[in-house]
Amino acid sequence: MHVQTYTISDTTTHFYFDAQLELLQQLAPVHSTFIITDEHILSHHGNKLEQWPVISIPPGEASKNLSVVEYIVDRLMTLDAGRDATIVGIGGGCVTDIAGFVAAIYKRGVKCGLVPTSILAMVDAALGGKSGVDTGNYKNMIGAIRQPSYILYDYSLLESLPEAEWINGFAEIIKHACILDENMFSYLQRHFMEDFRRDPVLLAALVEQNVTLKMTVVEKDELETGIRKWLNFGHTLGHAIENVYELPHGHAVSIGMVFAAGLSASMLGFDRAKDIEQLLHKYHLPAHFEFDPEIALHHMQQDKKRTGNAISFVLLERIGAAIVKPLPVSEIAQYLHS
Ligand SMILES: NC(=O)c1ccc[n+]([C@@H]2O[C@H](COP(=O)([O-])OP(=O)(O)OC[C@H]3O[C@@H](n4cnc5c(N)ncnc54)[C@H](O)[C@@H]3O)[C@@H](O)[C@H]2O)c1
Repeated sequence: MHVQTYTISDTTTHFYFDAQLELLQQLAPVHSTFIITDEHILSHHGNKLEQWPVISIPPGEASKNLSVVEYIVDRLMTLDAGRDATIVGIGGGCVTDIAGFVAAIYKRGVKCGLVPTSILAMVDAALGGKSGVDTGNYKNMIGAIRQPSYILYDYSLLESLPEAEWINGFAEIIKHACILDENMFSYLQRHFMEDFRRDPVLLAALVEQNVTLKMTVVEKDELETGIRKWLNFGHTLGHAIENVYELPHGHAVSIGMVFAAGLSASMLGFDRAKDIEQLLHKYHLPAHFEFDPEIALHHMQQDKKRTGNAISFVLLERIGAAIVKPLPVSEIAQYLHS
């Protein structure tokens, strides 16, 4: 195990890499820790969580809503969780998003620890303090930005992760490479997802490299007024179609990245859109999806990145260098219909 810390605003987050879930026994006192997880994690790893009160929710995006938040708050009150409580979210990005949000609002805020169990949560969702829930088909409309106290990485938890979820997670890894790291992009081109599934050392190095990439951005811009916006590459269209068409998050982001790479080609002369599409294909991710442009446009207009009549789109100048460009809705509509 090795430990790394990042201090953002007034919170220091400890990252316990290559750790074991059993470390929770030291980090999470039984009398004040409340675990939030989902039914899949509970069925695979529940035997390691027996000493704490566990609140389990149904898996997946359908649980990211205010009714589930209310259910969790009720359970916390029944369990007599006080202001000294720590909420520990153990699961994929849906669980870490909900747990982080409940920790931000329960009794005006209690401590939070996270144990990401999917690739997507390990490299992205658990990092940087953003949490939230959806309202209907609109993604992450209600949420908070608040850093967790610790994040524990136990790579052995990935043994139960279904292949489809490995694939999902690589969408965010490819996103990081596209916007921040050309070397990682080439490295991913030379490998296959199966290499990382087979080799825990290779996987740990890739996860930790992605944590460094994301946390370096968050350190500079926690509240997303500048460079953190780059992390939304692929997400503007991705979020607009994810819930309406019930797409896995990684698939939606993958389709969104191909769209944004195409926009980058037509607006900035970006010449590697084909390479991005091929890399996504190599990692079993979809490049295209038949969606209704009007539905997508409607949802994009509800996006948090809209100001007035323009939507901020993250585009690529080259691999490893993104920019944010406000695009008039009419221009996006034209491109969506082309
Ligand atoms: N807060 C952020 O900064 C941020 C960033 C990226 C994505 N997200 C959010 O993350 C969510 C997607 O994350 P996700 O794909 O991890 O979602 P998820 O939590 O739904 O996990 C995907 C599926 O894998 C299962 N699973 C997870 N780990 C497992 C394991 N070790 N063994 C067996 N099954 C396991 C879950 O039960 C679920 O069925 C989206 O809601 C997205 O908006 C948030």
